[in-house]
Amino acid sequence: MKFNIMTLFPEMFSNFISSSIIGRAVKQEILKFDIYNFRDYTQDPHGKVDDYVFGGGNGMLIGPQAIYDCYKDILKKSNKDKITTVYMSPRGKVLNQAMAKEFATLDEMVILCGHYEGVDERALKLINAVEVSIGDYVLTGGELSSMVMIDAISRNITGVLGNELSSDTDTFSNGLLEYPQYTRPRVYENLEVPEILLTGNHKLIEQWKIEQSLEITKMNRPDLYEKYKNRA
Ligand SMILES: C[S@@+](CC[C@H](N)C(=O)[O-])C[C@H]1O[C@@H](n2cnc3c(N)ncnc32)[C@H](O)[C@@H]1O
Repeated sequence: MKFNIMTLFPEMFSNFISSSIIGRAVKQEILKFDIYNFRDYTQDPHGKVDDYVFGGGNGMLIGPQAIYDCYKDILKKSNKDKITTVYMSPRGKVLNQAMAKEFATLDEMVILCGHYEGVDERALKLINAVEVSIGDYVLTGGELSSMVMIDAISRNITGVLGNELSSDTDTFSNGLLEYPQYTRPRVYENLEVPEILLTGNHKLIEQWKIEQSLEITKMNRPDLYEKYKNRA
């Protein structure tokens, strides 16, 4: 899958795309990143991309010209007339696992990262952007939120996680939060691994995991618990 990212701060992505699981997937050519600094497309002689907001209001807004020209260049380079485009925005639909899985079926995406007060509405219209938020809080820019979204998408792309099974048991995969997990040693600082996990009785272990998941979900996310119960 190819991510075309439009940002004013490309340097923020360098560790993200070269480290850990995402970095490995890039090396294996499962993921590809093309990062565009849309300031490179501005027609302003001083390199400006933002301006005051019509009608008043604090701060500066990113204008449509540099964004739209950058977007058109991405389409041209990809040889396409349309690519699914997301604008990272606190007023968008809140990202969840189902959305991440759906985006993971695409072969290419464009992601616009805002900054300052955000972007001129006409830019969003021209690039046909779907707005996605990562939660009910406001960040200084869309770079971090886009990395969160890309990470969540990428885990659902075949081959990105070394062990294909490892995303199946994650929190949210069955509508519940994950049960507690343990590794060696069996006893650490007087804290023991639950006896049942050492019995080798797979049926009882599975039952224990479900019970634990239900308990944790009920305590931390009563909304998900109710949904699960009504579904079951
Ligand atoms: C300071 S915010 C702009 C907020 C905007 N004035 C508003 O009230 O909706 C600057 C940029 O950060 C990004 N951003 C901020 N909060 C976000 C969130 N919760 N999810 C995704 N992106 C966010 C967006 O790209 C946004 O354009």
